[in-house]
Amino acid sequence: MGRKFFVGGNWKMNGNKAGIDGIIAFLKAGPIDPNVDVVVGCPAIYLDYARQQCPDNVQVAAQNAYKVPSGAFTGEISPAMIADIGLQWVILGHSERRAIFGESDELVAEKTKHALDAGLKVIACIGETLAEREAGQTEAVVFRQTAAIAAKITDWTNVVLAYEPVWAIGTGKTASPQQAQEVHAKLREWLKEKVSPEVSDSLRIIYGGSVTAGNAKELGQEGDIDGFLVGGASLKPDFIQIINAKQ
Ligand code: G3P
Repeated sequence: MGRKFFVGGNWKMNGNKAGIDGIIAFLKAGPIDPNVDVVVGCPAIYLDYARQQCPDNVQVAAQNAYKVPSGAFTGEISPAMIADIGLQWVILGHSERRAIFGESDELVAEKTKHALDAGLKVIACIGETLAEREAGQTEAVVFRQTAAIAAKITDWTNVVLAYEPVWAIGTGKTASPQQAQEVHAKLREWLKEKVSPEVSDSLRIIYGGSVTAGNAKELGQEGDIDGFLVGGASLKPDFIQIINAKQ
């Protein structure tokens, strides 16, 4: 095993310079467990600002990037641009990108491949809707989303897979530790069979969806939960307690 715990913050389309200053102040104050990788996803316009302010033990991620290096794609940014300002990470396939902006499994997979080829590390998000869960389709959906990525990439070293059930995002309805663990374990079985035992063992699978300082410890105790992707609570000082959930 030996998978390093990973805690991502996803600021989504929130904040301004003053707000980022406040977040960076509590990140600097920490303390941050040195055994945890911490990455915060920042709106594109503030990426360079956040990069300049963030302490060394916190990396900054873009929340999206397109599938080619440059060209006539108004409003988009590329992995090459993210790397050019000295950043290493991008979040791809978030359910809000999929649901609101119509990103397909195929597009998310193409973006993932291109970002990895451009030298970035990717937090690739998957997860079922409430209707899909209630219809008993949870596994089919997360396997399908993961399979689309697996069809395009061979090296998973620079990927973190974020399981974010859509019904738990921003709703205060966290998946129970057992519900999350069950899906993570199924994903690991799927990876073992369809990709390789090595990738199944080494890939970090993190959970996202209403993670708080109050539930992070319990979720983090599950064997296949290797960290979190945190939305709302990553904007508050509580985020430090989530980062340190394994202590
Ligand atoms: O990417 C993180 C996310 O979608 C979860 O958001 O606010 O439920 O923690 P939240």
